[in-house]
Amino acid sequence: MDRIGVLDFGGQYSHLIGRRIRDLGVFARVFPAEVSAEELAGTDGIKGLVFSGGAASVHGESSPKPDPKILDLDLPVLGICYGHQLLAHLLGGKVVSGATGEYGTTVLEIAGGGSRLLNRVNEETEVWMNHKDAVTGPPPGARITGRTEESPVAVFEDDGRNLYGVQFHPEVTHTEEGDRILENYAVEICGAERSWDPVNLVPQMIEDVKREIGDKRAIIGLSGGVDSSTAAKIVGEAIGENLTAVYVDTGLMREGETDSIRDGFKEEDLQLKVIDASDRFLDGLAGVTDPERKRKIIGKTFIDSFTDVAEDLGAEVLVQGTIYSDRIESGSTTHSDTIKSHHNVGGIPEEMDLEIYEPLKELYKDEVRRIATEVGVPDEIVHRHVFPGPGLAIRVIGEVTPKRVEIVRRASRIIEEGLREAGLYEKVWMGFAVLLPIKSVGVQGDLRSYKYPVAIRIVESEDAMTANFSRIPYDVLEDISTSITNEIGEVNRVVYDISNKPPATMEWE
Ligand code: XMP
Repeated sequence: MDRIGVLDFGGQYSHLIGRRIRDLGVFARVFPAEVSAEELAGTDGIKGLVFSGGAASVHGESSPKPDPKILDLDLPVLGICYGHQLLAHLLGGKVVSGATGEYGTTVLEIAGGGSRLLNRVNEETEVWMNHKDAVTGPPPGARITGRTEESPVAVFEDDGRNLYGVQFHPEVTHTEEGDRILENYAVEICGAERSWDPVNLVPQMIEDVKREIGDKRAIIGLSGGVDSSTAAKIVGEAIGENLTAVYVDTGLMREGETDSIRDGFKEEDLQLKVIDASDRFLDGLAGVTDPERKRKIIGKTFIDSFTDVAEDLGAEVLVQGTIYSDRIESGSTTHSDTIKSHHNVGGIPEEMDLEIYEPLKELYKDEVRRIATEVGVPDEIVHRHVFPGPGLAIRVIGEVTPKRVEIVRRASRIIEEGLREAGLYEKVWMGFAVLLPIKSVGVQGDLRSYKYPVAIRIVESEDAMTANFSRIPYDVLEDISTSITNEIGEVNRVVYDISNKPPATMEWE
C-alpha cells in the first residue's frame, strides 16, 4: 500500500499530520526523527515524506536533524513549521530567530502563480501559526509562493527537486484549507493512491495478536469506554478464553458505571471479572493535591490491582486500550513535552512484570470508533463520551475525598442528562463537572451560604489534540446550573469554562 512517512521532530501537532493524511484516504506512518534513509528507502510503498513541526530552533546545538541522506532519496518532502525551517536551513536558505514569532490564525497571501502545493487554494486564506523562528530567504532554486505579514517566506517550493515548506500548520483545523494543501501534496505531488480505511487494519491486528501473544494468558483492563472495549474485542477474537477482562471499580467512576459494565458485557463471550478497589484508590490519594502525583498514584494502583489478578490467573500479558493521543500527551514520543501522564502510559511503573500489549496505539479516537463498530462493540459504548482513566480524581481539583468525588459525580450526571435532553450529547466531545477546592458566598432560602463552586466543562473536538468550548445555549446551561444547586447541597455557584485547548486542556488536571 502507498504511504507517506512523517518524521516526528517533536511538535505537539506533528502526529495530527499523519492522521489528516489518513483522513484523505492515504496511509501515513510516523517515524522518529532519527530514522535512517536506508530504513525509509526500504519501506514498502513509500511515496513522500513530511518533516513535522517541533519546539527546537534549527540554530540550537541539540536540535533534531534528519539523516542527511534522506534528501537524496528522490522522494518529495514537505516541511511544516520547524520542518519548514529545517528544510530551508539544510538547503542553504536563511532562518532567523525571531523576537516575537506568530501565534494563532493569520492570513496567507498566495504569491506568484502556478503553485503545485497551493493549487485550488484561495488567494487569501486563513492559516494557523505557532512559531518563533522564521525563514527569511528561501533555499537557492526554490521560489516563494506564499507570505504572511510576519513571514516573508511562509511557503516555498522547489518543483525541480520536489521540496516544499510551509511555516503554518496545515494539519490543524484552524487552517481553513489545510486538507486541500495536504491533499495537493500527498495525492497530486507524491502521487499516492487513496486506498486507506482503518477497518482494513482489523484482520492484520488479529494476526498480530495471535503472533505476539500466542498461547500466553492475558488480561485487559476494561473501563467501559470505546478504546478498551475495542481492544478487548480484537484480542478476544484472536486468543479466545486466554483473555480475561478485568473491570477495576476505582471508586472514581461515573454514576452507574459499574452496573452498566456488568450489564453491557454479560452477553459477551468475554470472561469478565469485577474488582472493588475503591478503598485502595481513595486511601492512596488521601492528602495528595498535585495533579501529576495523583495520576502516578492512580497508574500504580491500577497496575497493583491488575498484577494481583494476573497472578491469580497466571496471566503474563496486560492488554491496554492506549491510543495515539494518549501517548503524545504523555510525552512518550521522542522530543515531545509531557503535558500530562495518562494513567495508562506515563503512570505505569517501569519495574512491572507484566508484558504490555497495545493494539490501538497507532490510532486516533475516530479511527477506533470506526473499527469498534466493525468488530461489534455496542453503539452505546461507541458513542459514549470519553472518560479518562484517572476518573473523577482529576475532576476534583486539589485533595480527593469520597465526599468531593460524590459531588462531582452527581454534577456530571446532571450535565450529561441536560445535554441528552437538549439533543446535544452526541454533538460534543464531552461534558462534565469540575469541583473547585474553594468556597464562595451565596444566599439560599434567605440564608447566607458558603459553599463549593462547580465548573461545567463542555468541549468540542475532532481528535482530542485541540478543542473548543461548546457554545451551549444559555437556557440549557441555566437548567443544568439550577439542577446542580437544587440537588447538591454542598454547591451554591456554577460557572461555565470558556477556554479552548490550547491554551487550556479539556480536563483541568
Ligand atoms: P486533555 O485534558 O489532555 O484530554 O485535553 C484529552 C482527552 O483525553 C482524556 N484523558 C485521558 N484518557 N487516560 C485516558 O484514558 C488519561 O489519563 C487521560 N487524561 C485525559 C480526556 O478526558 C479527554 O477526552
